[in-house]
Amino acid sequence: KELIAEADAFTTQSQEEVEAFRIKFLGKKGLLNTYFAEFRNVANDQKKEFGQAINQLKNTAQDKVNTLKEGLANSEEAVSSGDLSRPGDPVSIGARHPISIVKNQIIDIFSNIGFNVSEGPEIEDDWHNFTALNLPEYHPARDMQDTFFIQTNPDILLRTHTSSVQVRYMENNVPPIRTISPGRVYRNEAISSRSHCFFHQVEGLYIDKDVSFADLKQTLQYFTTEMFGKSKIRLRPSYFPFTEPSAEIDVYWGLETETDHKITKGTGWLEIGGCGMVDPNVLKNCNIDPEEYSGFAFGVGIDRIAMLLHQISDIRLLSENDVRFLEQFKSAL
Ligand code: PHE
Repeated sequence: KELIAEADAFTTQSQEEVEAFRIKFLGKKGLLNTYFAEFRNVANDQKKEFGQAINQLKNTAQDKVNTLKEGLANSEEAVSSGDLSRPGDPVSIGARHPISIVKNQIIDIFSNIGFNVSEGPEIEDDWHNFTALNLPEYHPARDMQDTFFIQTNPDILLRTHTSSVQVRYMENNVPPIRTISPGRVYRNEAISSRSHCFFHQVEGLYIDKDVSFADLKQTLQYFTTEMFGKSKIRLRPSYFPFTEPSAEIDVYWGLETETDHKITKGTGWLEIGGCGMVDPNVLKNCNIDPEEYSGFAFGVGIDRIAMLLHQISDIRLLSENDVRFLEQFKSAL
């Protein structure tokens, strides 16, 4: 009776334990065979009761083995054959980083008018970051960009702009040149909600015969219209050693109302980058004849544009990798 109760109560999830149970009760040398062998020696008046007991034990053990085996087979099948009624595992979908979203948009906009994409190293030498760009040693304009030096003499540094990529591109290609250089740049600046010690730029370069300032302005107007929708640009006279004349690019951009598509809420003029006609000295440094060719260059901040478009109030959010922030870009491109 105790054995029947034991057999009845047995349960397990493991195939091995079911098999051990089967051997113990139903195996060739198992308990049941032992009892059946003993049946002969049981006194006649007890035979009936003993026989019923071992038959009941046999049935209980056999049923147990059958149901347990069936249960295990079913759950295995459910796992391997994809039982469609089982609840799914949660899948969390990633989002593109806002910097990548905006960078890809800029690449698309310029590739439509024939610009390719060029890249270069983030660790630069002095020539490509400064000297070739018309900033000789001790030139005061080097102070404009507080630089992280990795090594001095010869100077190796973290690039302060992707103009360095344009120098490399001019050294290795002949005009006509139409290229944009997106990438991360570094400046030794105090970190705040508005500025960081690293950020992202896209610089553009166009070199051909008879390239004019009007071409530059039209290209930038095309870009801001594609990027921001209805917008105006303003070029404010400025100074960069590698361009002459030089200008800051301001964009006037408003939010359109959904009903009548009028710009209602102006954000005012916002600076998004710098530009100018490539200085003849820079062309010479890169083995391009300034008598034959001219060109324009510009640089815009990707972080700045991402902050404007997506109403991000603090530049530090862009590098903190807080999923609560990143998840908000799931529906963006
Ligand atoms: N390199 C400049 C900067 O980082 C931007 C610029 C690019 C200005 C090309 C003029 C022409 O500020």
